[in-house]
Amino acid sequence: MSALFEQNSLAGITLRNRFIRSATFEGMGTDNGLVKPALTGKMRELAEGGVGLIITGHTYFSIEGKASPGKVAVDRDECIKGLAKMAAAVHMTGGKIVLQLGHAGAMANPECTEHEPIGPSVIAGKDGKPLCREMNQKDIEAIVENIAAGARRAKKAGFDGVQIHAAHGYLFSQFLSPYFNKRQDEFGGSVENRTKIAIEALRKIKSATGEGYPVLIKINSDDFIDGGICPEEMLLIAQLLEQNGIDAIELSGGTHFSKEGYDPVRKGNRATPNHGAYYFNAAGKLKKAVKVPVILVGGIRAFDTAENIVDSGTADYIAMSRPLIREPQLIKRWESGDTARASCESCNSCFRPVLTGKGLYCPVGERLKKQAQQKVE
Ligand SMILES: Cc1cc2nc3c(=O)[nH]c(=O)nc-3n(C[C@H](O)[C@H](O)[C@H](O)COP(=O)(O)O)c2cc1C
Repeated sequence: MSALFEQNSLAGITLRNRFIRSATFEGMGTDNGLVKPALTGKMRELAEGGVGLIITGHTYFSIEGKASPGKVAVDRDECIKGLAKMAAAVHMTGGKIVLQLGHAGAMANPECTEHEPIGPSVIAGKDGKPLCREMNQKDIEAIVENIAAGARRAKKAGFDGVQIHAAHGYLFSQFLSPYFNKRQDEFGGSVENRTKIAIEALRKIKSATGEGYPVLIKINSDDFIDGGICPEEMLLIAQLLEQNGIDAIELSGGTHFSKEGYDPVRKGNRATPNHGAYYFNAAGKLKKAVKVPVILVGGIRAFDTAENIVDSGTADYIAMSRPLIREPQLIKRWESGDTARASCESCNSCFRPVLTGKGLYCPVGERLKKQAQQKVE
C-alpha cells in the first residue's frame, strides 16, 4: 500500500491518509458570517470523498479582518452552533477538520466590514493609494486576544485544531514580509521582530485552548516580490515558530502583489519543474530545517507527484485546493486504484461562484456533467 494511504497522526490528530484539503474560501457564510447548511453539506461531501483532513476556508476572528462577503465568522459565541454542525458532519464520515483563522489586514474589504483596514504599516495598493492605516500597540494586542478567542470557539465547536493563516499577503503574512512591514518598533525590522505577532498569537492560542490542542500555520515559502520573503528567510521563520510550539507548517507562496504568474492560486497547468508542485524545492529545505510535519500545497495534480513528494521526504502531507473542488471524490478514486491525474485544469473559474454569492463549485465540471446528462437523455 502506498504510504499516502497509511493511517497516521498529525500533531495528535489521527488521519486516515496523508491528503489534506487546503483552506478554500467557500463563499457560503451568511451576511453576518454564520455557516449556511449548504456549507455543512459541502464539508460532508468532501469528507465522504476520502480526504484525511479538511482545512476550512479562512474565517474571520475580528470583523475588520473580513476579506469579502460570504466569509464565515468565528468572532463571537453565536457562531459556535453552526460551526459545531459542520465539524460533526465531517467526523460522522471518519474525516477530521481544522478551522483556518484569518485576518485580511490591508486586503480587508471596508464595504463589508465598515472599518478602516489595518496593517503592519501603511500599504499602498497597485494604484498607489493607501489601503490601510498602521496598527498601534493596542491593535496588535486586540489581534492576539481575538485570534485566541476564535481558537477557543473552534475547540468548543469540536474542530480538531486550528490553522493560523500567515500566507498570501494577509495580515500575519504582511507582518512577516519586509516588503509590507516597515515598522520601527519591536514588530518590525529583524526576522525575529517580524515573526513576533505570529508567535504571540500562537502562545495566546495555546494558553486559551490548552497544551495539546493542535495549532498549524500556513506560510509563504517566497513572496515572489522584490524585497519580500525569500526561501532562506522562510526557514528562519519556520524555526522560530517551531521553537515556540507550532505543530505543523503548511508551505505555500505568493501574494496579490507578486510578479505575474506567481500569485498563490496560479492559473493554468504551465510546464513547471517537479511536475507542477510549485514549492517543491523550498519544501525539501524546510523539511531538513524543522522536525514538525511539513504540508505542501500548490499545483499538485498527479498521484505520482504526490507519492514522490512523500516518498522522497520532501514533505509529510499533500494539500490540494482546486482539484478537490472539481472532484470531491478524488482521494477515493485514487485509493480505488484509478490513479489518473486530477481533472482540474487550474482555470480558476471556481472563483466566480464564490465571489458572486453562489457558493463554491467547479463551473467546468458542472458544465461537462450537464452535457453528459443531455447526451443520455
Ligand atoms: C476558491 C479558492 C479559495 C481559496 N481560499 C483560501 C483561503 O481561504 N485560505 C487559504 O489559505 N488559501 C486559500 N486558497 C488557496 C489554496 O488553499 C491553495 O493554496 C492554492 O489554491 C494552491 O493550491 P492548488 O493548486 O491545489 O489549488 C484558495 C484557493 C481557491 C481556488
